[in-house]
Amino acid sequence: VTIPNKPSRIAGAECPERSVVSGADHAAAMSVQEYLEKHLLPRKIEEAVNAAVRAKAADPVLFISTHMRRAAPAVITRVCARQILDSRGAPAVEVDLHTNKAVHRASAAGPGAPEGAAVDATRDVEKRRLLAKAVADSVRLINGKVSEALVGMDPQQQAQIDQAIMDLDKAHHRTEVGANAMLAVSIAACKAGAAEKEVPLYKHIADLVGKSATTLPVPAITVINGGTHAGNNLPIQEIMILPIGAKNFEEAMQMGSETYHHLKDIIWEKYGSDSCNIGDDGGFAPNISSITEGLDLVIAAIDRAGYNGRIKLAIDAAATDFCVGKKYDLEFKSAKKSGQNFKTGDDMIEIYSQLCSEYPLVSIEQPFDKDDWEHSKKFTTLELCQVPIVLFIFYLLSGAHAIMHLQVVGDDLLMSDPERIKRAVNEYTCDALTLKASQVGTVTEAIEAVKQAKDAHWGVMVSHRSGDTDDSFIADLAVGAAAGQIKAGAPCRGECLTKYNQLLRIEEEFGSEGVYAGENWRTTAS
Ligand code: PGA
Repeated sequence: VTIPNKPSRIAGAECPERSVVSGADHAAAMSVQEYLEKHLLPRKIEEAVNAAVRAKAADPVLFISTHMRRAAPAVITRVCARQILDSRGAPAVEVDLHTNKAVHRASAAGPGAPEGAAVDATRDVEKRRLLAKAVADSVRLINGKVSEALVGMDPQQQAQIDQAIMDLDKAHHRTEVGANAMLAVSIAACKAGAAEKEVPLYKHIADLVGKSATTLPVPAITVINGGTHAGNNLPIQEIMILPIGAKNFEEAMQMGSETYHHLKDIIWEKYGSDSCNIGDDGGFAPNISSITEGLDLVIAAIDRAGYNGRIKLAIDAAATDFCVGKKYDLEFKSAKKSGQNFKTGDDMIEIYSQLCSEYPLVSIEQPFDKDDWEHSKKFTTLELCQVPIVLFIFYLLSGAHAIMHLQVVGDDLLMSDPERIKRAVNEYTCDALTLKASQVGTVTEAIEAVKQAKDAHWGVMVSHRSGDTDDSFIADLAVGAAAGQIKAGAPCRGECLTKYNQLLRIEEEFGSEGVYAGENWRTTAS
């Protein structure tokens, strides 16, 4: 039996027909007896009835239908894609992966990777539509050769599925299928695999990793935006809060949300209502230009919310965006910039060190340019203490907080690329990974990147994208891979909250089994 196709909105991208059980075309010509025998129906029905009787099922009809559904083979029957829009209004790929039993939907943001990344997105050859970002070509590819390659495969075999997708794209930088298209298909297959096993998605991912899943990550919640993610003059991209001192994930989100709203009031009082507009990750974007001004606002909000000491700070400098040659232009967005205020890599080390001595900063992401291995190494090797010496001694004596040096997170430096991660581990140019699955291309490779980082005893921050979709997959990935940290933007805006809210559901499901990473945010092993 075939399901008639609805015409696609994209010419030449009709969703493939559902694959049919071999020989079904001839079913109409069979006698009733032949049909029953071919499908072993009497035996299968008898088995299902016997099982219901043995189980003394309260609702035998429901029991028998579930029993028979489980007996149907686990098989992908077609893969259909469409173009949707992400949180910035740019095109993204959404996939419906059909199995014998259900349809599983996933979408992926584009890699948005810096120049030199190992993977790329496919965008249309025909450049006029959607500012040259349309993904109709990807949709055609998925509906064509990707679907053909995956039909008949078991969705539980994630590694084989991902290999089949990778085999279709031997091009340098994956420009044939594109990492955006690959990831959407790979995630949809992962969801289908979990459904087939009848386990939650995080559990299926944990099985793929080979660990148990009970750890909820610490959220790195964006509260202030700058850099290329906002129109203000703040050079760095994000100031984040980490509710490390929360007792569970739910309380972490409560602390994050309260602080976010107090921050809004403080910004309103100080700069006026029009300064409460938000940037791409949902953080406020008041027109400040100095990092300390932003950190002071956040400290005041934490204080007003009553969470002193329980919330730590992190920044994502995204310094690649303000690197000019070998120098750093902290005025890169200012209309009045003098051009005289460029900083050297050593100046930046001074600036970050000063910030760490004055604020409870526990993590700095991408402090230098993506290719500035020299200063990344110099800075990481400093192993800066994140608290002033007086507090350090207090923590040491009280044992209240794990004492650790500053976490240096590689985003553009690593691009989630195994070769760059390897080099960074060998040269000690950072000690944590920003994992952006869309920079890798498949679930299997994302899991490999996590393993690589964990083997080096690094922290792992699973990250959303600034132009993201409403898919919550990374929440399950963070739990399944026991990442310990997740960065999904502010506690507002649908594409951010879909991840945080999924983590609230997972924690509820865990009940007393759930463990909030808390103080162990950098070292979760399970
Ligand atoms: P990007 O940034 O998606 O613009 O690369 C996301 C982030 O680093 O938070």
